[in-house]
Amino acid sequence: MKDACMTSDTSIQSIAIDGPAGAGKSTVARSLALRLGMAYIDTGAMYRSCALKAIRSGVSMEDEAALTDMMEHTQISFRLVNGEQHVFMDGEDVSLDIRTPDVTRGSSDIAKSPVVRENMVALQRRIARREAVVMDGRDIGSHVLPDARHKFFLTATPEVRAQRRLRENREKKAGLQEYEAVLADLRYRDLQDSTRAVSPLIRAQDAIEIDTSGYGIDAVVEILLGYIFPQQATCDAGDVQHAD
Ligand code: DC
Repeated sequence: MKDACMTSDTSIQSIAIDGPAGAGKSTVARSLALRLGMAYIDTGAMYRSCALKAIRSGVSMEDEAALTDMMEHTQISFRLVNGEQHVFMDGEDVSLDIRTPDVTRGSSDIAKSPVVRENMVALQRRIARREAVVMDGRDIGSHVLPDARHKFFLTATPEVRAQRRLRENREKKAGLQEYEAVLADLRYRDLQDSTRAVSPLIRAQDAIEIDTSGYGIDAVVEILLGYIFPQQATCDAGDVQHAD
């Protein structure tokens, strides 16, 4: 019955989705945000934009003083373009440029920088204060939004994640890497992202961990909705509506 599945729950303010690269976070988070009428914030795109700027301006990812100066003159924002969320760096739409293999690797390098993280975390918190968000990343549940209403940690085997990234890259026409190269890149970033000193990739204690290896994106979204609306678990999730 449709009415029983309606929700007027305005206490859902933010949803944190963390996990390693290729675990399905961004597709799941985007779809979930759409279903719940919330904004989707891809925090990986923010680190990628910083990496792109550093690469273009020849700033070393290890040079904290130069990065501090760079961050003082860097503006990152999100805007909808034809219904799709695009990321802008200093007013330029960099949504495609941030998906190249160089920027992908650089984003993991620059994410180790304390000053870059400090700036990005402050921006992420400002956005989450302004509107209800589904935010995906590495440290959202553990550090950026420790009070998020719901926290999920998505995982999948490296092989499944590499296959997904390969497909995603092809769809976005972003860098034509081979499977082995994508897998090697994932392993490199897994290690860096989970062992760095500042806010490493970590599952928040109160996050629900879901291994997405055997599921399609739609199934994962249904699983998450089941946790968000447990009282409606028997309803067809397609009937979940947002009362606005
Ligand atoms: O999600 P992604 O692959 O687009 O992220 C790119 C890099 O950014 C990733 O290797 C680690 C970093 N990152 C991070 O350190 N913290 C976040 N919240 C999001 C991404």
